Amino acid sequence: MPTTIRLADLAATEALAARAASLARPGDALLLDGPLGAGKSAFSRAFLRAAAGDPRLEVPSPTFTLVQQYELPRFQAWHFDLYRLSGPDDLFELGWEEVADGVALVEWPERLEDLRPADALGLRLAPDPADDEARFLTLEGWPDRLAALTEGFP
Ligand SMILES: Nc1ncnc2c1ncn2[C@@H]1O[C@H](COP(=O)(O)OP(=O)(O)O)[C@@H](O)[C@H]1O
Ligand SMILES: [Mg+2]
Repeated sequence: MPTTIRLADLAATEALAARAASLARPGDALLLDGPLGAGKSAFSRAFLRAAAGDPRLEVPSPTFTLVQQYELPRFQAWHFDLYRLSGPDDLFELGWEEVADGVALVEWPERLEDLRPADALGLRLAPDPADDEARFLTLEGWPDRLAALTEGFP
């Protein structure tokens, strides 16, 4: 069952992303949907910084490289921005097969088509028309961890 929470501001998005990082384990995929400017990259940056234990970790946008890899204390992570991917076949050139052993953060996951992992955490960010700083986040997946992830969020 999908759950929707409200992220009142960027700090709330960062707190939720840090919570997700603490709950993540090798083999996970987090699929970030939502329009341009929704906060997919902001979520990814906060997730990676929390998982690294380094609030200043450089997190360049993978807009042009399509993927950035991170060696983190508990897992390797891959941050994908698939907006420019021509098709799922090109994923293998980006090392998609190795990703199964680590954690994948994927912006524009609809480009995965049939390669979308079945047990992924889906996160759909939507702007709140009433407030520029707020987002609605609909979460689906992680049945064993969803309650811990969203606890305390409205
Ligand atoms: N609650 C919020 N969550 C995430 N980003 C927010 C929020 N409020 C404002 N923002 C701003 O919205 C922008 C989101 O940009 P970005 O993360 O690059 O979006 P995307 O990757 O989805 O295109 C950033 O400038 C960020 O500071
Ligand atoms: Mg982005």
